[in-house]
Amino acid sequence: MIDPKTVKNKALVEWVDKIASLTKPEKVVWCDGSKEEADGLFEEMIAKGACIKLNEQKRPNSYYFRSDPRDVARVEARTFICSKTKDEAGPTNNWMDPVEMKKKLNELFSGCMKGRTMFVIPFSMGPVGGPISQIGVEITDSPYVVVNMRIMARVTPKVLDILGENGKFVPCLHSVGKPINSPEDDVAWPCDPDNTYIAHFPEERLIMSIGSGYGGNALLGKKCLSLRIASAMGRDEGWLAEHMLILGVKDPKGRKTYVTGAFPSACGKTNFAMLIAPQELQKKGWQITCVGDDIAWIKPAADGKLYAINPENGFFGVAPGTSMKTNPNAMHSCEKDSIFTNVALTSDGDVWWEGMTKEPPEGLTDWHGKPWSKDSATPAAHPNSRFTAPIANCPCLDENAEKLEGVPISAIVVGGRRANGIPLVFESFNWAHGVYLGAMMGSERTAAAEGKQGELRSDPMAMLPFAGYNMARYLGHLVEMGKNLEETPRFYHVNWFRKTADGKFMWPGFGDNARVLAWIVNRRNGEAKAKETAIGCVPNYDDIDWEGLEYSKEDFEALMAFDPEIVAAQPLKDELYEQLPNALKIQRQALLERLS
Ligand code: GTP
Ligand code: SPV
Ligand code: MN
Repeated sequence: MIDPKTVKNKALVEWVDKIASLTKPEKVVWCDGSKEEADGLFEEMIAKGACIKLNEQKRPNSYYFRSDPRDVARVEARTFICSKTKDEAGPTNNWMDPVEMKKKLNELFSGCMKGRTMFVIPFSMGPVGGPISQIGVEITDSPYVVVNMRIMARVTPKVLDILGENGKFVPCLHSVGKPINSPEDDVAWPCDPDNTYIAHFPEERLIMSIGSGYGGNALLGKKCLSLRIASAMGRDEGWLAEHMLILGVKDPKGRKTYVTGAFPSACGKTNFAMLIAPQELQKKGWQITCVGDDIAWIKPAADGKLYAINPENGFFGVAPGTSMKTNPNAMHSCEKDSIFTNVALTSDGDVWWEGMTKEPPEGLTDWHGKPWSKDSATPAAHPNSRFTAPIANCPCLDENAEKLEGVPISAIVVGGRRANGIPLVFESFNWAHGVYLGAMMGSERTAAAEGKQGELRSDPMAMLPFAGYNMARYLGHLVEMGKNLEETPRFYHVNWFRKTADGKFMWPGFGDNARVLAWIVNRRNGEAKAKETAIGCVPNYDDIDWEGLEYSKEDFEALMAFDPEIVAAQPLKDELYEQLPNALKIQRQALLERLS
């Protein structure tokens, strides 16, 4: 706990006072991010039945939460960019006039913390004091948010020292939106789905979120600050906030190359970021290390290269599908000191989810709290169930992950979940073509947000739900950022998710994606061949290292074939396409000519 009397920042003290008198909490607690503080909160939550402490032998210092079944993912329909004009929010964002939104929210926030504790969480996104880092302060009435923010961000009183008397911070206001008027209101997972709003005021750099306690809706340092608000900052200040993983690759010559990757939610960032190369490639000297699994802040430096930091301090990863086979580094990351939300509980107080083991253990309790068996009609873990794990637990953490100025980026991988028509990998001809590939990205919907799963939707740069301003101008800013660099990263479009007619994945994926990554790194260093096609440069069969994997030339050719109609489709809303910068429209014309 921080003594509020020691807080010197005038704007912060005023804001906290103002919010306390608006929301009427029982008390106000300033969080210091310590383990003792978290332990106390877990104890209180256990006493209330809001969480369970997992088996200390099997999963030390770890806790289990079940959410309200109506509050299990980001709610895009209720996420708003409240810029002064609708045009500024652009054709893909929900917009509401900021004055009108604040009026509505002030009503909803009025008295909303009655009977609850209001927590004030000072945090840094990025290493504390780093030149690319940003300071935020989240006010929340959810202890679940406090214990998760402590893992995901750097929560420490040092942030207040840096702020001093007049330093700037991003105010992040959050409430579950359910005051406690009577004991029945004190439920395990309070939320108010009918009155949920995730509102961003990019001009003011302000976030207000109410009604949901889940992930990206409530941990406001993550998508709200580090993508929506930060993208607007980046536009104004000449940098980029991207929905990207960052990884390092050591090649057989001992060189280190850093690569980022933009895949939509639940499309493989965490898995790619923690990739373990197949044994045969490792023996040759290939080694992959993780810098970040979800967000990258990228800035041009004096040497004319782009440098990236991971603003986060933990992983909020998709649980289902994660196993010792698919992603051992993620499994080790959540071995201890972790929080699990909406997975299944084993009879001996540990966690389980679909895909963790081939056979589910006996005696499971599902994410609703009901007994579960193999014959149950619904999954034991919610498809968007998650683990929150400290990045320090990651066995493959990159040696430069904490570097204040970030790591130099040599390649950018983009791609979604595409069952048909899109090949395993192709390389852009130049930066503008690369941004075009990112802009035209499509992906089948996943459980990471509400909506019909499987439906193909356009998701430019995996930023559709996260751009804090007009998507067309965001793409224009990305085009501009590639200019005047001494070293311009190349773009690679990948698709791990192509399927056969009978619905099987055509590519083994996971660790074997290292074979594609090795080709990308070799290309970058001028050491791999490729063949030019209408869509970009592609590897020949012999350009990929196949040692340890039986994959025939015939299968590879089927995997690499592209469907001209699918490639030529223009997935963007007309209204967005119209507003695109010319550089991208020219790319489209050139593609259509190459295809004809
Ligand atoms: P967010 O945290 O929502 O941003 O997701 P993410 O992009 O980090 O996705 P993640 O790596 O958690 O993967 C989501 C799902 O895709 C998991 O169930 C994975 O098992 C699965 N997946 C990841 N990589 C591959 C792959 O190469 N092939 C196949 N078939 N599935 C994959
Ligand atoms: C995503 O949906 O892209 C996530 C999870 O990484 S959340 O924090 O809910 O945004
Ligand atoms: Mn994400």
